[in-house]
Amino acid sequence: MTRTTGASSNKTSTTTATVTGLMSDIAGTGTDPLRGGYTRPVYSTAELDLRTWFIDQATKRGLSVETDRNGAIWAWWDIPGGNRSNSIVTGSHLDSVPGGGPFDGPLGVAAALAAVDILKARSPIPKRPLAIAVFPEEEGSRFGVACLGSRLLTGAIDPNKARNLRDPDGNTFADIAMANALDPRYIGRDDQLLGQIGAFVELHVEQGRGLIDLDQPVAIASSILGHGRWRLSIHGQGNHAGTTLMADRNDPMVAASRVVVTIRDAARNQPHARATVGRLQPVPSGTNVIASRVDFWLDVRHPEDAITASLVEAIHHEARLIAADEGCTVELTEESLSPTVHFDPGLQKQLQLALPEAPILDTGAGHDAGVLAALVPTAMVFVRNPSGISHSPEEHVVDEDAELGAQALAEALATLMN
Ligand code: GLV
Ligand code: MN
Ligand code: MN
Repeated sequence: MTRTTGASSNKTSTTTATVTGLMSDIAGTGTDPLRGGYTRPVYSTAELDLRTWFIDQATKRGLSVETDRNGAIWAWWDIPGGNRSNSIVTGSHLDSVPGGGPFDGPLGVAAALAAVDILKARSPIPKRPLAIAVFPEEEGSRFGVACLGSRLLTGAIDPNKARNLRDPDGNTFADIAMANALDPRYIGRDDQLLGQIGAFVELHVEQGRGLIDLDQPVAIASSILGHGRWRLSIHGQGNHAGTTLMADRNDPMVAASRVVVTIRDAARNQPHARATVGRLQPVPSGTNVIASRVDFWLDVRHPEDAITASLVEAIHHEARLIAADEGCTVELTEESLSPTVHFDPGLQKQLQLALPEAPILDTGAGHDAGVLAALVPTAMVFVRNPSGISHSPEEHVVDEDAELGAQALAEALATLMN
């Protein structure tokens, strides 16, 4: 831990907040009038405002708030004597995808705060310390690498690579970290902090239809689908839209469009695979300009990591052929890779004892819990999303389920803390 960003206090709030009340506090932060929903990239004004809100909420509860060397916030409920070994950690993230829903990330943070209230209102006082962690850049929407904070904490990304990641405006992560009082020289694996985590439990909105189909409000996670991100750059010849005959073009946009369809077809032909191109940038991007280059990003997911690798190789091969056919060239660069994660079976059993009604569900979405799972026992709790839609403004949780989620998280934490 490097900095204390909120005062520890002996005064503990006596009221129990609702998740709905906490979520409504932040409902106006980071709304996106153009895309709809919320745009809260890491270290944007919106995300910084959410961090301030969290620090304020944690401080009100008497938690001791610190920011670690990688920019994650930790709010500690210490036990007498202050020993933090074997702590139980919960939490999630406050950053969002562009035009995302309100619940992806903040629900886990609000539920953690509400769970602390529920536990503080009970006796006896838990035997193990608890921390609420808020991880930065979970979505990778600004610097391209998902779960950047937890990857840095666990050493899953080289700090030098992280320092040199660039946002769409060309700022490096090191520049933005420095502007936000985080010294980029000290980012990276933090064994001291990792050594204090006995278990991590993340509550998250479900991002698919599993709980709708089972007619249940809350589930326990079994696994996260392996996933990765690759950047494809197709280079052609920039030129004039009016004077360049159709036969004389080396148009990377046409090549990219053909590759996007190939990607869809390749994933359709591979059982259980998912492949997406959700972001595409022509350079220089003018209506009457044939692009000189098109960059686009590929997200591929499959339960078997070897199949993900072979699918990406097949896509790369097809992209080379298509690019050549259009008089262009293509480069493919891996930006991040996360193997399939099976959550800790022992911890999963403990959660099942605490939540006997909850079904077990897997997920296709990535989470900081998946990254931490490489080094600490990790579990997740999902809360029903009646739209079945996520990474979109239509993502939803009904008030009653939000409170049931916090109750379920409190039960799970109580089991682990005693
Ligand atoms: C994050 O939500 C992801 O699955 O990409
Ligand atoms: Mn999330
Ligand atoms: Mn997400």
